[in-house]
Amino acid sequence: MTALTTRLGIAYPIIQAPMLGVSNPALAATVSNAGGLGSVGISASTPEQATAMIAEIRALTDKPFNVNMFCHRPEVANAATEAAWLAHMKPWFDEFGATPPSPLASPYYTLVDNDAMVDALVAAAPPVLSFHFGLPSADAIAALKAAGIVLFASATTLAEALQVEAAGIDVIVAQGTEAGGHRGVFDPEHGDAGIGTFALTRLIAAKTAVPVVAAGGIMDGQGIAAALTLGAQAAQLGTAFILTPESSANAAYRDALQSARALRTGLTAAISGRSARGIVNRFHLEVGGPTAPTIPDYPLPYHAGKALVAAAVAKGNHDFSVQWAGQAAGLARALPATELVQTLVAETRAAQQAQAI
Ligand SMILES: Cc1cc2nc3c(=O)[nH]c(=O)nc-3n(C[C@H](O)[C@H](O)[C@H](O)COP(=O)(O)O)c2cc1C
Repeated sequence: MTALTTRLGIAYPIIQAPMLGVSNPALAATVSNAGGLGSVGISASTPEQATAMIAEIRALTDKPFNVNMFCHRPEVANAATEAAWLAHMKPWFDEFGATPPSPLASPYYTLVDNDAMVDALVAAAPPVLSFHFGLPSADAIAALKAAGIVLFASATTLAEALQVEAAGIDVIVAQGTEAGGHRGVFDPEHGDAGIGTFALTRLIAAKTAVPVVAAGGIMDGQGIAAALTLGAQAAQLGTAFILTPESSANAAYRDALQSARALRTGLTAAISGRSARGIVNRFHLEVGGPTAPTIPDYPLPYHAGKALVAAAVAKGNHDFSVQWAGQAAGLARALPATELVQTLVAETRAAQQAQAI
């Protein structure tokens, strides 16, 4: 138990990370029913679809859960940059007899300047709402808090964490560079400090008064115990939950995660337009290689990226597939979600006892 688990009303300081495309209501509800905090992403959803997803989770659990929304700046289109990017990608589309989509359109919604989604979330009032890639407006934050929603926000630096604290957010998710998926960096044009989970968790726990959740490279109870020792009040695990039967990961993703390939993860912005960590494949090495021109604004390139993946998969090729994974992916276990949560709890207790001096 930590002050945060008490506040949230969950049994264990274990959060199944929101993973758009991999998490789903069944996984989230199973984790919440097991005593953790399950999460889903709603950034590919319209307000109506998000409302329906929240209702679906509520039908599966009466425990708290988290919904996650991107807060990136609305994309800035640039026809010349996009044309150059699509010309760069053409050889790989040619390989699979496909044509790149044009013009590029955003596959995702942001909560920034999105009153319809704020209104839907205020009405649905999920127990927890988490933000990634920045923060929505002060008005949106005030409305969501007034609806009784506990707000989380990712931070990849102490400076971002201080912004989160100043905005009145309840919980900071310290996302280290080890983390699978997209870096939650607020302003990518200012670069990525690349701080690891160990240093970042300690920095934010020591320098802010807001409860901290550690995320990135945590795969087992030993990792959770380490995060709690560093001052985190919970750990958020993404990659550890990909191999659960409840997740939406496809067979090729599961195979890759259980192969030696999972031992080599890397960051690339070539897939979506923002830096994200996944199992290194031809998308990282070739499309994102040294000949890549300026990448269009996030998430426009994802339109082309998803189309290339689909064209390759249609020909039985998974060399370009989006397989986000964190640096400790080699520790992922194929366990049902309930059993995984129970195993994590037992391991954490054992690790904490082993630490006693
Ligand atoms: C497949 C995958 C998808 C992800 N999608 C999201 C997302 O939609 N929103 C978000 O805030 N974080 C997302 N993340 C990042 C996680 O919230 C978390 O920071 C990360 O999983 C922690 O590192 P780990 O994977 O090493 O446990 C994703 C991570 C993975 C592995």
